Amino acid sequence: MLFRQMFDKTSSTYTYLLASRHGGEALLIDPVFEQTHRYLKLLEELDLKLVKVVDTHIHADHVSAMGSLRDATRCTTVMGEQSPADVVSLRVRDGEKVTIEGLALTALHTPGHTSESYSFLMDDRVFTGDTLLIRGTGRTDFQNGDPYEQYHSLFDRLLKLPEATFVFPAHDYKGDTVSTIGEEKAFNPRLQVSSADEYAEIMNALNLPNPMMMDVAVPENLKVGLRSAAQHRVPVVEVDALLADWPATEFQLVDIREEGERRRFGAIPGSIHAPYGQFDQYCGRSGPLAGLAKQGRILLYCAVGERSTLAVEIAAELGLTGFAHIPGGFTAWAKAGGPVEEVG
Ligand SMILES: [Fe+2]
Repeated sequence: MLFRQMFDKTSSTYTYLLASRHGGEALLIDPVFEQTHRYLKLLEELDLKLVKVVDTHIHADHVSAMGSLRDATRCTTVMGEQSPADVVSLRVRDGEKVTIEGLALTALHTPGHTSESYSFLMDDRVFTGDTLLIRGTGRTDFQNGDPYEQYHSLFDRLLKLPEATFVFPAHDYKGDTVSTIGEEKAFNPRLQVSSADEYAEIMNALNLPNPMMMDVAVPENLKVGLRSAAQHRVPVVEVDALLADWPATEFQLVDIREEGERRRFGAIPGSIHAPYGQFDQYCGRSGPLAGLAKQGRILLYCAVGERSTLAVEIAAELGLTGFAHIPGGFTAWAKAGGPVEEVG
């Protein structure tokens, strides 16, 4: 496995790069906007293809690089389903896996620092965001933070992991890079409490100043996605237009979401599946979409319209014409009362 821990000095943020092999797919956790070029350079040096970028929560102290990395690499943006960010390509819920080639991270909803905070568990290590820090815990006094929820996330979730599990947090202000669950249980001063009330009392007495970047970072991080205007930079077919003649349509519908999303939410009837992760292969010379594109028009959709916007661009670059997508994706379709068929 390839594993890199990168530090942003200004915000004291750790960003993690994961990949199973050189020349394969990569994932980044909690990247910082100002470091975008550094990540891209490292990805190039290690011959990696960035396919997913994950933010553990809406950060208040730095602008996320999710948007800039998506624009540079067309990677899939990932956050927990509770994220208030406008457009996130792939939303995961507690217990779901975030996968790339050769690796799988289990999403753990660990609210408390913020209501949408997630940790991600991968074999011998857990990426704890700002829920559990080294000898500390993330503040709970803004962004729907709640010390009681954090107590539960810590004591009933993270601290129940095997003691040898490595803890990789989103921040450290002293230069510590890694800890373990056992070490934190024993030595983290915030965790030496006997009740949720006692924990809340400590957290509520911290009286910390707001992060310097907060007024800039939070609004920026809430509008990270490709919203409606950006989704119209490629050919579109709106849900209303599609529903007007339904089930008659001149299009072959193609669902580019992941199998897990299809099984969870269902799909538009009559769709074929061509997951975004392998989309370029599906569009290749002998790929199924290249053949279909010769026979008629193809209408792509994903969860919210971000991946499908990028996929239409990929198809066009590969010389395939006649591709359009549904702005707002399956979410807009379901919201408009469009029929849904079960998958799986
Ligand atoms: Fe945070």
